Amino acid sequence: MGSASRQQQPSQTNHGVELIIAPPAFRLSDDEEDDEARELLLDVDGLVTVAGGGAAGAAPPPASPPKIRVRELRRQAAGGQEILRGVDLDVPRGMVMGVIGPSGSGKSTLLRALNRLWEPAPGAVFLDGADICGLDVRALRRRVGMLFQQPAMFDGTVAYNVRYGPQLRGKKLTEAEVQNLLTQADLDPAMSSKPATELSVGQAQRVALARTLANEPEVLLLDEPTSALDPISTQNIEDTIVRLKKTRGLTTVIVSHSVKQIQRIADLVCLLVGGEIVEVLPPSELSSAKHPMARRFLELS
Ligand SMILES: Nc1ncnc2c1ncn2[C@@H]1O[C@H](COP(=O)(O)OP(=O)(O)O)[C@@H](O)[C@H]1O
Ligand SMILES: [Mg+2]
Repeated sequence: MGSASRQQQPSQTNHGVELIIAPPAFRLSDDEEDDEARELLLDVDGLVTVAGGGAAGAAPPPASPPKIRVRELRRQAAGGQEILRGVDLDVPRGMVMGVIGPSGSGKSTLLRALNRLWEPAPGAVFLDGADICGLDVRALRRRVGMLFQQPAMFDGTVAYNVRYGPQLRGKKLTEAEVQNLLTQADLDPAMSSKPATELSVGQAQRVALARTLANEPEVLLLDEPTSALDPISTQNIEDTIVRLKKTRGLTTVIVSHSVKQIQRIADLVCLLVGGEIVEVLPPSELSSAKHPMARRFLELS
């Protein structure tokens, strides 16, 4: 048994469900700690429990709903101020949806509702037509994988991190599978045996991507995923997102401060200002958007 597995061995239950104890090597900002721990929980359980129709395992209904549907989504801060003010959004299946908007406009809050890192009201967020509030939360988070701006690594090797989710569902990825995932995430496959906690933020971000992809998610939520990456790596990650869309029909929602990035990879872009979506349009049409903030973004990008 290697040092990695000694340090962070999940406890299996009869149901194949595990409890993750946040390892000491997490690098988290205080306000993200809870969410990050929950992200790791989401990465690791494959049981799909569905309430209502239209989710995994069921035949798609004749007129297929959007992959993600958001209706009247609201979020209030503890102090009462509204962070999201009734957001409506459809993310079509197999598309890349970009989310842009000023800092503090609610982009991360919106993204985090989509896999219940906070609990939206019933009837506000649907996945394949099913209210996500009725889904098993860990199964939801495996289907809807998320990458944060600040990646958190388990205290073990890179391979240990990549294997983590499948392992907890009783599947051990081969070394070749791990290396393939690393390659998809623009990492040198030889990195597999390196301690994950010794990586740069940019490398850790790519390991986090490989770890998320290991769960074969249907949706990827990316919160400014390339902000710590150099331009070449950024391009490689963008290529991966586009390739996964083409080969696996992966649906992606990506928050980015870079309009150029959105124009390179997104099929649609929504502009969030003050907790409201003020525009949804193809990125090529941003210049003709009505909201002045859209043009401002375009000018400054
Ligand atoms: N859990 C929270 N409690 C209180 N305020 C929050 C919370 N999460 C976010 N906010 C506030 O909500 C607003 C939107 O935050 P956020 O979604 O992180 O914006 P963005 O990602 O667009 O920069 C900010 O003013 C932020 O301070
Ligand atoms: Mg944010």
